[in-house]
Amino acid sequence: MYSSLSTALNARNIKFIHLEEIDSTNLYLKRLINGGERQRTVVIADYQTNGKGRSGKSFYSPQGTGLYMSVLLNPNCPFCDAVGVTTAASVAAARAIEKVCGKQVGIKWVNDLYFDSKKVCGILCEAVNDYKTATAKSVIIGVGINLSTAYFPDELKEIAGSLEVEKSLYPALAQGLADEILKIKFGAIDEAVLDEYRRRSIVLGKNVDYYINGEKRTAFAVDIDSKGGLVIKNENGEVSTLSSGEITLRLNKSL
Ligand code: BTN
Repeated sequence: MYSSLSTALNARNIKFIHLEEIDSTNLYLKRLINGGERQRTVVIADYQTNGKGRSGKSFYSPQGTGLYMSVLLNPNCPFCDAVGVTTAASVAAARAIEKVCGKQVGIKWVNDLYFDSKKVCGILCEAVNDYKTATAKSVIIGVGINLSTAYFPDELKEIAGSLEVEKSLYPALAQGLADEILKIKFGAIDEAVLDEYRRRSIVLGKNVDYYINGEKRTAFAVDIDSKGGLVIKNENGEVSTLSSGEITLRLNKSL
């Protein structure tokens, strides 16, 4: 299924691994890193038994109806130069989906992709850091896309959806996604990437709920800053920037 992707990656000295089943492709790569792997590697699984989401959540990864891919990069760069990867990965996934499937997806800050008002893709970026030298040695970019998942567990039914992509397109999407992710640069986020992120944002210009120390607050989403942070304005007109975390959209509600 992925033979041409494998050939294309190997020609660029990038390893490719296709697994029928794994706990999590991100965990798989972490184990490779712990075993000394230093080569760029792309791993795809048809099924994850313990797919990982952000904030300790799980990512529903049923057999054969999604693309579950993790990419291992070895930037060996200062921590601060790896921060923009999350923002760039959202744009990379959105571009690949649009190019291959012809579907326009929106980005909900930080890095969930939405189609038809449902989350169709989640991204989990993780770094292996050397704190002595303040260096991000390795970065794992894990992307899960619901391609043709028809049934979701009750707790996800309202929020999760699927792109409804033909199986024949899976290899091309995998190739497109790997290509886009491998283009990501470390350091300052590209202006073009930031502009595309803003253009695709389904959050900017809307009110959002967010939590600080467990306390719920509401603000208006104003902009995405040069580091991918969400610039918000509260009801007193005070402007601040969220750099990580979850937000909830409050569509059509005033502050
Ligand atoms: C989220 O929505 O919170 C992030 C989900 C990330 C899921 C992908 S699927 C491939 C990779 N392996 C994992 O265990 N997680 C990521």
